[in-house]
Amino acid sequence: MRKVFWIFLLVPLLIRADDPLAGEEALGSQPYDRYERPEVCQSCHTSIYQQWRQAMMSQAFTHHWDEIEYFELAVPHGEIDPFFKPVADGCNGCHAPLAFLAGDVPPPRPAEGSRANESVSCDLCHSIVAVKGDKAVNFNWVSQPGRVKYGAKPGLESPHHITRYNEIYTKTEYCGSCHNEMNPYGIWVKSTQLEWQEGPYGEQGVPCFVCHMPKARGRSATMAEEDMVAQHVFLGAHSEAKVKSAIEISMHPLEREIPYDGVAIFQVELFNAKAGHKIPTGSVEDRILWLHVEARDADGHVYHLEVDPKGFEGEEYTIASDELAYTDMAIPLQLDDFAGVGRDGVPVGDRIFRMPYFDENGIMTIQQWNTRRLGVDYRIGPRETRLETFTWEMPEDIALGKVSVSATLNYQKLVKPVADFLEVPAEESEIVVMNTTDTWIEVYE
Ligand code: HEC
Ligand code: HEC
Ligand code: HEC
Ligand code: HEC
Ligand code: HEC
Repeated sequence: MRKVFWIFLLVPLLIRADDPLAGEEALGSQPYDRYERPEVCQSCHTSIYQQWRQAMMSQAFTHHWDEIEYFELAVPHGEIDPFFKPVADGCNGCHAPLAFLAGDVPPPRPAEGSRANESVSCDLCHSIVAVKGDKAVNFNWVSQPGRVKYGAKPGLESPHHITRYNEIYTKTEYCGSCHNEMNPYGIWVKSTQLEWQEGPYGEQGVPCFVCHMPKARGRSATMAEEDMVAQHVFLGAHSEAKVKSAIEISMHPLEREIPYDGVAIFQVELFNAKAGHKIPTGSVEDRILWLHVEARDADGHVYHLEVDPKGFEGEEYTIASDELAYTDMAIPLQLDDFAGVGRDGVPVGDRIFRMPYFDENGIMTIQQWNTRRLGVDYRIGPRETRLETFTWEMPEDIALGKVSVSATLNYQKLVKPVADFLEVPAEESEIVVMNTTDTWIEVYE
């Protein structure tokens, strides 16, 4: 029985292995029914299934903000300008890979309940046999669906499928095939795996799995033996628990005692202690991380401290202002005279850790496909520490005595003026306090 099956199976594998399709060229190469539904896997892999349901992986197509950006910006942009049509189709290569492979692009809206809704599904991930080419980018994984489910463990037996070890499940290129993205202008609009590779975790060989699919003792299937099992929680930007304290913060004054007409200087240290890549990473065009410092004197008056500029090129994009930006949303939305919306939406003078994306007019954009140039990279790299200083001339009305000073590092998945403008549900622009710290000075006569 087994032997017969093997022969049957090897033939198509070998033929396809000669010219495996990957990335854009795989459009329309596999009908939906080549892939099993996640609910089939659920019957045995009960816990893994429930983890995946909760993870963004199972919502990559259905999630509200993805739906808005895809259907209201990317698809219309591709209709107005055919140059962007393949890019808009390509969104599905990572967000709704089954639809992409089936050639069902654009797929029906999530409310219609098509198989695009399976998003990054079990069978898609476990049919990947290779990443094509020498760099992981733009969904260049090779998928060979069928009876064989590939994974990182050799020698497992299953009543439902054949299991086979494949080295790619131990390589970060596996993740990088969807977590690195180059847009049609040749700009790296997503480069999480490349950031990892160039950083200390890449050098020391600590892959994505260690932090995003941690192993714990348990059963991977109801009938399996206990073992160390890879958890499928994929915590990331949507998990407050993951984001909180990923960056450590501390602050001290350069001098503790300050005359009432003097100047206080505070130094803040920010250490990326937990992430294997830069923070923020991934959807860098959307994410914003900012440092807010306030002082409170003995009378309870609160003063906002602005960061000291360092003088590097492009720094103006790393200090909050009330400028407008994102005017290129007018193209897909077909708006005339659109002045844009707030660039930052955070207190003016706060330090922002980001890398701005610019459109052809040099204005910041959240439309990664329309990005012509990247600005200064002022994110915080893995195990990197950044120092910021705040010079504060004592205000005339300062009360004598103790002044407490607090620093807060905030995180937002989507810059708020854009979220409000596009009516993206508030949870996408909620402020997550990543970390806080405080110190004090003594003001004397
Ligand atoms: C009838 C039960 C059953 C069903 C249904 C089932 N599996 Fe499995 N699967 C198992 C068992 C049992 C194992 C072996 C677990 C062990 O021994 O640790 C396994 C192992 C695996 C492995 C590990 C492979 C490796 O070598 O690391 C993967 C991946 C996998 N299954 C994927 C799937 C996917 C995807 C589906 C749905 C399309 C699915 N399974 C459906 C029972 C099942
Ligand atoms: C087939 C494409 C694909 C592959 C392969 C893939 N991912 Fe993802 N991943 C996505 C997409 C798409 C999202 C975005 C989901 C969303 O927010 O819409 C995502 C989101 C995430 C998130 C963020 C969740 C959040 O809360 O914002 C993490 C973490 C993640 N992936 C880790 C991994 C790791 C680790 C691997 C390798 C084991 C991997 N991914 C492989 C497509 C993929
Ligand atoms: C040393 C642990 C560690 C490693 C290794 C690691 N990450 Fe992360 N990752 C984190 C932490 C902590 C966060 C949450 C902080 C943040 O948002 O960056 C995170 C966040 C993310 C996010 C969400 C970021 C966002 O802003 O949307 C994605 C996507 C992601 N990781 C993917 C990956 C991929 C892919 C790899 C491998 C190439 C990887 N990570 C390696 C710890 C790690
Ligand atoms: C983003 C891709 C991705 C998705 C989606 C995904 N897996 Fe996995 N899965 C992996 C990777 C990678 C590993 C190996 C991780 C490791 O060992 O470090 C793995 C491991 C496994 C294992 C073996 C666990 C162990 O350690 O014994 C099983 C079983 C499994 N997956 C089943 C499933 C099922 C069922 C689903 C859907 C409910 C699913 N996977 C969704 C990538 C994925
Ligand atoms: C090469 C794979 C890939 C392609 C192509 C791709 N994405 Fe993504 N997308 C991802 C990954 C991975 C993430 C998660 C990154 C993170 O967590 O920071 C993501 C995140 C997003 C997010 C933010 C999700 C959130 O919850 O914050 C939106 C919206 C989005 N993508 C829309 C699109 C649109 C629209 C397109 C097409 C123009 C597209 N993506 C093309 C891989 C891709």
